[in-house]
Amino acid sequence: MAIIEVTNVSKTHDDVASGRKVRTLDTISLSAKENDFLILLGPSGCGKSTLLNIIAGLTPYDSGVGEVRVGGQLVTGPNPKLMAYMFQDPVLYPWRTVLKNVEFGLEAQGIDKAERKDRAFKYLRMVGLEDFAHYYPRQLSGGMAQRVAICRSLALETDIILMDEPFGALDEQSRIILGDELIEIWRQVRRTIVFVTHSLTEAVYLGERIAVFSARPGRIKAEIVNPLPRPRTIGKPEFSQMVDTLWNELKGESLISIKRAKAEQDEIALPHE
Ligand SMILES: Nc1ncnc2c1ncn2[C@@H]1O[C@H](COP(=O)(O)OP(=O)(O)OP(=O)(O)O)[C@@H](O)[C@H]1O
Ligand SMILES: [Mg+2]
Repeated sequence: MAIIEVTNVSKTHDDVASGRKVRTLDTISLSAKENDFLILLGPSGCGKSTLLNIIAGLTPYDSGVGEVRVGGQLVTGPNPKLMAYMFQDPVLYPWRTVLKNVEFGLEAQGIDKAERKDRAFKYLRMVGLEDFAHYYPRQLSGGMAQRVAICRSLALETDIILMDEPFGALDEQSRIILGDELIEIWRQVRRTIVFVTHSLTEAVYLGERIAVFSARPGRIKAEIVNPLPRPRTIGKPEFSQMVDTLWNELKGESLISIKRAKAEQDEIALPHE
């Protein structure tokens, strides 16, 4: 059964600069079944974060046509018991230790102290950070901080985890290592993950299914099932072939997106010339 069902959803934003309405998402239909690892891949500005916000119940979509259901229920607002959301560039609380950062959402859920600690350690152990539980964020490398943020989402033990470019700020090696850890955890705990990325390699390395977006207004251009068995090896011929398949879908869209960004930049620059 589909745990996330997005049907004919569109989103129009007010463009502050021009005062016009801009269509960000155009009749998106997409679903994820339980235990899915769904990748949202698309050029910058195509509406990936907007869609994630809509699924999370943080942003309303255009009324009248489409609908979003999670766990069979119409989404009308955030549901933190069902969905954890790891934002792009997640911020750790600098005044809280690693352990207390991971426990944060659990406190909000009213879970008692002993269980909070058990749960936080369970996930810190999975990512090899149990010895850093009493460190503060400033004492961590970027990759370690990212792991803590992942733990914070996982510790909520929600059925669904939404991740917006969670490894975007990391170097390639850290991305691969954290990707491996995430896959291992996903295999152990069986959650539904929706994972946004720009990276073709990351999409092929991690995804069970990959939804490729068009340039804005975002439409689903292709939904590709990733047939590669795990563990996957970057650079193997069949891996490269998958990357090529995705790139063929994405190439034109990326060009549109880059040209548009350039045009918008020129437009902004004009009055100053
Ligand atoms: N609150 C808002 N008000 C007005 N426009 C918005 C708002 N949020 C997003 N947009 C516009 O919607 C479009 C899609 O933005 P979004 O952040 O969803 O893209 P994205 O695919 O996540 O991009 P990136 O890959 O760069 O993170 C952009 O053109 C953006 O300017
Ligand atoms: Mg985004």
